[in-house]
Amino acid sequence: MSEPIRIGMIGYGFMGRAHTNAYKRVPDFFPELKYRPVLQAACARNEEKVKAFAEQWGYASHETDWRDLLKRDDIDAVDICVPNNLHKEMAIAAAEAGKMILCEKPLAMNVAEGKEMCDAIEKAGVANTVWYNYRRIPAVSLAKQLIDDGRLGRIYHYRSNFLQDWTISEDVPQGGAATWRLDSAAAGSGVTGDLLAHCIDTAIWLNGSIVDVSAMTETFVKQRLHAETQQVQEVGIDDACAFLCHFDNGSLGLFESTRYARGHKALYTLEINGEKASLRWDLHDLNRLDFFEHADGPETRGWRTIHITEGEMPYMDKWWVPGLCIGYEHSFVHQVADFLKNLESGQPTNPTFRDALETQAVCDAVLKSGADRTWETV
Ligand SMILES: NC(=O)c1ccc[n+]([C@@H]2O[C@H](COP(=O)([O-])OP(=O)(O)OC[C@H]3O[C@@H](n4cnc5c(N)ncnc54)[C@H](O)[C@@H]3O)[C@@H](O)[C@H]2O)c1
Repeated sequence: MSEPIRIGMIGYGFMGRAHTNAYKRVPDFFPELKYRPVLQAACARNEEKVKAFAEQWGYASHETDWRDLLKRDDIDAVDICVPNNLHKEMAIAAAEAGKMILCEKPLAMNVAEGKEMCDAIEKAGVANTVWYNYRRIPAVSLAKQLIDDGRLGRIYHYRSNFLQDWTISEDVPQGGAATWRLDSAAAGSGVTGDLLAHCIDTAIWLNGSIVDVSAMTETFVKQRLHAETQQVQEVGIDDACAFLCHFDNGSLGLFESTRYARGHKALYTLEINGEKASLRWDLHDLNRLDFFEHADGPETRGWRTIHITEGEMPYMDKWWVPGLCIGYEHSFVHQVADFLKNLESGQPTNPTFRDALETQAVCDAVLKSGADRTWETV
């Protein structure tokens, strides 16, 4: 019989639901694990709403103050699914309460906060991970395997985009429940911390550390109504950001993110060009990895599209039969499964807080470079 890990979930929005779904799926699809998540308590400020969420999704109880959640001795792990400005305080308090922590990305508002968080969780010695979930999309995990196996050889170029179009209208407010991402006080930054952070995390994982960056950032809509104050206020976030970088392995990086690319909803793409091979991936077609290998004979040489559904491919033996796809939500299921598996062996689950601090440092350097119009060392 598996042992329970009692989850205290803070926030019931987009990520609160994505993670809860993952906790529910893991025991069925990863029955070999020693530990199983138990939905012990959900927490958010509005009692009526959090109670309804807890009942609908199967949490045994609810809280309206996260500090009360942390005081409970029937909570083993805390999942932080709230806006970015709340991560630090909650994570440090959770560490001091001896809870395991699964924290949403970006780790913090900036590196200074992130360092405090890392120090606190390392002092407490609690298991931790940050939800850079794209690492565990099987196609991206396969890309990692191919790179680590040397199939690309020396890497020359890393190229990545994350494009959206949902803030083009000047009528979209900043702040408040649905639009906190446009309020720098809640989000810290705009596309850099929200979207590029994912691209940077994946890039560091696949291609190693980033040494320096040269960025341009832009805020296209300079003032927006604030949903909470009802005042028109300056917009403090970056609406768009593009940057160049050098990786530690000598390769060159090119990244772009915007919420003003009309027609694109969540176009996260990456392409890597190596000496022996190239690969590319696109979130809109997440079960496919495109791969070009120069060693293929000249008669058949060309880009192949690998459909990631075979049981030999990362995580896919846990799901259906070859040919049948899985989705976005499975990346979270995989992260929970890895977290629980690593608890058995005492291994860290990547990305840890410390790993996520490196992504935070790149984000900070990008924002500083964009503001100063200079190259910044990470
Ligand atoms: N990994 C990913 O791909 C991914 C995707 C989306 C969001 N995120 C991250 O997840 C976090 C949450 O984003 P979201 O899209 O779920 O936001 P959301 O707006 O959908 O939900 C936020 C939740 O936080 C709750 N909340 C706010 N203040 C609170 C407080 N003081 N105490 C308790 N609860 C509080 C709200 O009630 C709401 O339930 C952010 O850090 C975001 O960057 C990550």
